[in-house]
Amino acid sequence: MPEAEAVCRMFGRIAKRYDLSNHLLSWGIDFWWRRTLVRRVKRTNPGNVVDLATGSGDVAFALKRKLGVRTKVQGLDFCQPMLDEAERKRRNRNPVPAIHFGWADILDLPLESDSVDAVTVAFGIRNLENRSRGLEEIRRILRPGGKVFILEFSQPYRWFRPFYYTYLKYVLPVLAGWITGRPEAYDYLGGTIVKFPRRRGLTLEIREAGFHDVLAIPMTLGIVSIHQGTA
Ligand SMILES: C[S@@+](CC[C@H](N)C(=O)[O-])C[C@H]1O[C@@H](n2cnc3c(N)ncnc32)[C@H](O)[C@@H]1O
Repeated sequence: MPEAEAVCRMFGRIAKRYDLSNHLLSWGIDFWWRRTLVRRVKRTNPGNVVDLATGSGDVAFALKRKLGVRTKVQGLDFCQPMLDEAERKRRNRNPVPAIHFGWADILDLPLESDSVDAVTVAFGIRNLENRSRGLEEIRRILRPGGKVFILEFSQPYRWFRPFYYTYLKYVLPVLAGWITGRPEAYDYLGGTIVKFPRRRGLTLEIREAGFHDVLAIPMTLGIVSIHQGTA
């Protein structure tokens, strides 16, 4: 099975319990990571934002809340069960936020070139089959001067790595198995985190995709980082 299809199936299987497992497994810190991302986006005052790999939509909801009616927010993903979850949450909110959730593959985005002010990707870049192609697609849809904000797991500070890698390998799949009934999904998650490039590596990849003024901001002992770049 192609990797993209396998990734999509895996997220499809955990979609209903995805939010709960996220919040429990990160000890609730994921709320703060997403809020920090959204605060950085707000500073750039975009007219429209596309949240890619939106999953169950938490970044898109936070963007809409923070940026208000003048900013158009779209959430796109290639896993329909995750999008269904996002749409279910949207309809259950009062008032119902004006966010469009739709299907799209980051590697071939159905959006015009130079049409977007800001792109966010939270915990989605790591799953791409072809990261450089994904970054180039993001660069293509951004208008000149538009910004990309990538929130992603990273390699933590050196002294913390042994504890963290032990947690990922032995503790995370067990806890996640209890919560979602799918320990193998979190085995995969831990594996992708360990293999993911460090801040400097991803910074270079973002530059190679044509971005400038690329920053990497570590958070929580470097477990995650926000990478920001200008098209
Ligand atoms: C870990 S979830 C992150 C969801 C959400 N952004 C969040 O912060 O919770 C990763 C998401 O990336 C999506 N994804 C992975 N590869 C993708 C691709 N090539 N195109 C679109 N979505 C993709 C998956 O379907 C999944 O919903």
